[in-house]
Amino acid sequence: MNAHERLAAALAGEAVDRPPVWFMRQAGRYLPEYLAVREKVSFLDLCHTPELACEVTCQPIDRFDLDAAIVFSDILTIPEAMGCPVEFIKGRGPVLPEPVRTAQDADALVTPDEADALPWVPETLRLFQAARPEIPILGFAGAPFTLLCYMVEGSGSKDWVHVKRLLYGAPDVAIRLLERLADVVGDYLQLQIDAGAAAVQMFDTWAGILSPDDYQRFALPAAQRAFARASGAPRLYFTRDTSPFLHLISSVGSDAISLDWRTDMARARAVLGDIPVQGNLDPMMLFAPPEAIAERVHRICDAAGPRGHVFNLGHGVVPSTPIAGVEAMIAAVRSRSARVDPAR
Ligand code: CP3
Repeated sequence: MNAHERLAAALAGEAVDRPPVWFMRQAGRYLPEYLAVREKVSFLDLCHTPELACEVTCQPIDRFDLDAAIVFSDILTIPEAMGCPVEFIKGRGPVLPEPVRTAQDADALVTPDEADALPWVPETLRLFQAARPEIPILGFAGAPFTLLCYMVEGSGSKDWVHVKRLLYGAPDVAIRLLERLADVVGDYLQLQIDAGAAAVQMFDTWAGILSPDDYQRFALPAAQRAFARASGAPRLYFTRDTSPFLHLISSVGSDAISLDWRTDMARARAVLGDIPVQGNLDPMMLFAPPEAIAERVHRICDAAGPRGHVFNLGHGVVPSTPIAGVEAMIAAVRSRSARVDPAR
């Protein structure tokens, strides 16, 4: 199988020769070649320059034997396009200096035409397909609730006080903003599918800060609304810390569920049934010796079963990750070819 066939088959729950493998944040600060580009250009300028974004998208593909790329960008380009400025401050992560906390703040946001406001990602997707036609590329977006978290809080947070205050104090304002975000996110996913993305992933990184009731009230309907606007390629949904309400996740309307490392793969299979899954090695396992990494990779693949599994980390790779750990993980997944009977 080639990489396109392998990814498409796994996301359709069909037989594969081995699980396809790619990983979140595979183009990033653990790679010396990425750091070399970043010495010359800021992170946001990198996102806004398709030639450079394509170059760093190719970096992990050229270094490792991966089955997919993910377009280099960030989820916070959507708030930026809606009129909520974003800054990346070294050591602090993203900062949004004009947070959205009231109905008036929300009303002042614009609904962008994505093709005009966010031209870089479709262009990067096209450049990548011309440069590395043998490798499928994923598009992505932040899920409405996770974008709302950053827009309301103005940064990452431990307790998300401003977000919770809005959800519980002015739920109608929160829901209206989530609906607007869902429409922008859905159309943005469609723009990427139309530009040739082989699949798209929606990141709901902060869904797990909610109770199951509030997930069903706020995050889930917004994610469903976004997915309902995009079709034509497999759609993946990533959440974190949602293991306690995993049974709710499969109603989101995605084609596959991307699991964080806290979710037991065997339990995920039991709860989710045959829906294709992605994941879910703890990114910190990449600091372990190669044999320990291989053992864990095989355990995850065995629990997921031979069909409907895309191998990935359970969240993004962290900056100080040793390259040798990444290589050990990929080698262990690739060695599955000898173990898996594609006819099963
Ligand atoms: O996975 C990939 O290789 C594709 C690129 C990608 C980036 N961000 C590049 C990036 C993707 C898919 C994202 C998604 C993203 N961005 C999410 C959802 C996934 C997740 O990690 O939970 C979130 C929450 C963000 C917001 C964001 N952007 C954060 C929290 C940070 C880290 C800030 C820090 O300094 O640690 C970023 C910056 C960012 N996005 C970097 C990269 C490679 C590092 C920027 C740099 O070069 O300094």
